[in-house]
Amino acid sequence: MAANTKAPEAIHLEDYKTPAYLVDQVQLTFQLEPSATLVRSKLQMSRNLDRTEPEPLRLDGNSMELISVVLDGKTLSGDNYQLDAEGVTIFAVPEKFCLEIETKIDPAGNTSLEGLYQSSGNFCTQCEAHGFRKITFYPDRPDVMAKFRVRIEAEKKYPVLLSNGNLIAEGELENGHHYAEWEDPFPKPSYLFALVAGDLVCIEDSYKTRSGRDVLLQIFVEERNKDFCDHAMLSLKKSMKWDEDVFDLEYDLDRYMIVAVDDFNMGAMENKGLNVFNSKYVLAHPETATDADYLGVESVIAHEYFHNWTGNRVTCRDWFQLSLKEGLTVYRDQQFSADMNSAAVCRIDDVRILRQHQFPEDAGPMAHPVRPASYVEINNFYTMTVYNKGAEVIRMMRTLLGEEKFVDGVKLYLKRHDGDAATCDDFVRAMEAAGQRDLSQFKLWYSQAGTPQVLIRSHYDEQAKSLRLDMVQHCPPTPEAEQKQPFQIPLAVGLLAADGSDIPLQLEGEDSAGATTRVLELCEKEQSFTFIGLKEQPILSPLRGFSAPVRLKADFSDDELAFRMAHDADSFNRWEAGQTLALKELLRMLSDLEEGRQFVLSPKFICAWRHALEDRQADMSLLTQLLTLPSEQYLSDQLEECNPQAVREVRDRARWQLGSECQAALMERYQECADDGEYSLDPQAVGRRSLRNFCLTLLMELHDQRMTDLCLEQYYKSQNMTDRLAAFAVMVDNPAQDRLAVINDFYQRWQEHPLLIDKWFSVQAMSHQPQVFAEVELLLRHPAFSMSNPNRFRSLVGAFTQNLGAFHRGDGAGYRFLADQVLLLDQKNPQVAARMAGPFTRWKRLEPHRRELMKAELVRMQAAELSKDLYEIVSKSLS
Ligand code: TRP
Ligand code: ZN
Repeated sequence: MAANTKAPEAIHLEDYKTPAYLVDQVQLTFQLEPSATLVRSKLQMSRNLDRTEPEPLRLDGNSMELISVVLDGKTLSGDNYQLDAEGVTIFAVPEKFCLEIETKIDPAGNTSLEGLYQSSGNFCTQCEAHGFRKITFYPDRPDVMAKFRVRIEAEKKYPVLLSNGNLIAEGELENGHHYAEWEDPFPKPSYLFALVAGDLVCIEDSYKTRSGRDVLLQIFVEERNKDFCDHAMLSLKKSMKWDEDVFDLEYDLDRYMIVAVDDFNMGAMENKGLNVFNSKYVLAHPETATDADYLGVESVIAHEYFHNWTGNRVTCRDWFQLSLKEGLTVYRDQQFSADMNSAAVCRIDDVRILRQHQFPEDAGPMAHPVRPASYVEINNFYTMTVYNKGAEVIRMMRTLLGEEKFVDGVKLYLKRHDGDAATCDDFVRAMEAAGQRDLSQFKLWYSQAGTPQVLIRSHYDEQAKSLRLDMVQHCPPTPEAEQKQPFQIPLAVGLLAADGSDIPLQLEGEDSAGATTRVLELCEKEQSFTFIGLKEQPILSPLRGFSAPVRLKADFSDDELAFRMAHDADSFNRWEAGQTLALKELLRMLSDLEEGRQFVLSPKFICAWRHALEDRQADMSLLTQLLTLPSEQYLSDQLEECNPQAVREVRDRARWQLGSECQAALMERYQECADDGEYSLDPQAVGRRSLRNFCLTLLMELHDQRMTDLCLEQYYKSQNMTDRLAAFAVMVDNPAQDRLAVINDFYQRWQEHPLLIDKWFSVQAMSHQPQVFAEVELLLRHPAFSMSNPNRFRSLVGAFTQNLGAFHRGDGAGYRFLADQVLLLDQKNPQVAARMAGPFTRWKRLEPHRRELMKAELVRMQAAELSKDLYEIVSKSLS
């Protein structure tokens, strides 16, 4: 790790310049050795056509040994180039030339998991965003696209040798080693390069594309995991079919390879023809993976597959355009998951994640636009804003254009830019052309950070039989701008009649009523809309399907909310009405607690809640969503000055109250939803498990031995991980005497399965038991804990920071713990360390005492030698 003695500098979008030199062809040869791998690179390069004068050649590179530089056959001496910590400058090169560079790298010692590294003794690479420059010196930027040819030489104890594209040769070498040669016919940026070598087995299948080509599908895993790949393979085939059906997009190579590794910084990586995955998003089996894990595998497999067009065939001009590929690809994987599963539940989950994590990001010191204007370390910008808000921006364009024109727009964008490195503006231009609309105001979603607030007031005119909606939008200041221009906000609204039915809508100035959901476009700071032809005062259903990523403010009465929770035709808004009602209730309890009053749920709320619980017509997955109280994070996000421990106390109290006052109803539903045999992933079965386990957790709040016995029975007898883990988690959350026995049992049973030991750590770190902090400190010393595996680190330290009641201890010990761990990890893996420091960016939103404690830890961290990654988070948090 390169520690920084002076403050690292920011890079700005406005400074973008085209590359001075382009690479036409790359030939790479790897001689793999764990601690001393030789990399020979042969580049055919030429000066960019837009440059008239010769310029020095700048190549990026760090963390390696430069052995030799040969220009057009002549070895360069040290006077011909200048090496520094971030690369090399070659002073003079002709207009067209061949450059040969030899470097030596140390994969076994590479703990950053960027570049070439080892996982379980196998070699693999991670090049996005700046990993390739740790392999060889190269113009490591996405607008330099080249054809790659790769030769890998290694000992035979690494039988599998893979790179992008097509296998063109393989064979034996004189020294007993073997080799393989790969050629990728599609020009690509260096961040999409991949190499894998090791002792892996391969699960194969094939897919016939719509035009009749056969594609070989291969998933490579360690031998011990070979029975866990079926779901990933099925998900891949479904993704390939979906992209053909919805966007007319076919796969373009003869082979699609996926490799699963245990040590990985993020979820997965879309390298051309050779995806590398965190094994968490490949492996699944009923006994080891939960329903949520299955969904995760399906969506990440789809996400990486979809990148083949949105990301690879059309890539990003520079990293400021990251959302061009990520926002669009998240949107595509969300639509895919919605089509494969319950669309309503998917939308609720996506919005829940957005509000729980992206809204706070947008309200904190790291807030940035979907297309950031500057960054210090690009790794820090793989954020919820770029990914998930980016997907909402795409979704809004679909809402404005309609599905058909939107799909035309995507196709036009891909056609115009195939084989190129494009920008977010290019994408919007294609949408404007396909939709025949001017989207210039809409583009502010790309350049302005912050979550807009929309205030709606409705006025019913008895005489005129009309309803006027007065809307005001406001966006709070964020680091890049104090003042914001008004956004173009698509608001899908409906009106409900007294019988709960949807009213056909007619706006002032229209001849007749039309559809029952209308997209209003709020473009001004203040704007009104009037619906006419109403027989009676309707109930407003605003922001259907969460049509824009905004905070909606409206003063709905409890009765209106309860009515919409029961009747709204939009299932998202039924859920939303229930959440709003619960939020009001919990916030009221919180102020009761703070003012020393009794804090309890109102009988009215409990009654409505029980009523919903007993609805046997409702879809069970949706019902579980409806019954689940807003999360601690979401509650905290509503408060100017938050004491997360009070939030925990209130929410736990409410859960306990629901458990005890609805005990009989919960018990009935728990029993009705009992599993009837074979594990199945159909939405019915998933819904049944979710409702059953939800009932179990509330019943366990009662600390009743009969319930504990049921829970233990579920834990020991379940054949699937969904039910077993649910029972395990509530046992760990419970003071029952069997708690330790269950903890030990889980460990014994699953110790050979890293992904399950991750769960074992996180369940304990998330416990609501008062001794959790001491337990976490002990677990840090457990032999199975390791700092070098990101999943494991996240499963203990990361999970603990999400345990708001424990992490935000009033004595600051939780904060000190995190700072210590992050500083240690920063020495090995800056990318993950910076990510884990995320909770520190929220310090200004805490109540004064905790705010000072957290700030003190930030100040302490700032005084240490930090990586660029962590430096950016810490310094921006303090500024
Ligand atoms: N491009 C990847 C995706 O979203 C994610 C990614 C970015 C990544 N940087 C990474 C993965 C670093 C691993 C390591 O699909
Ligand atoms: Zn992605």
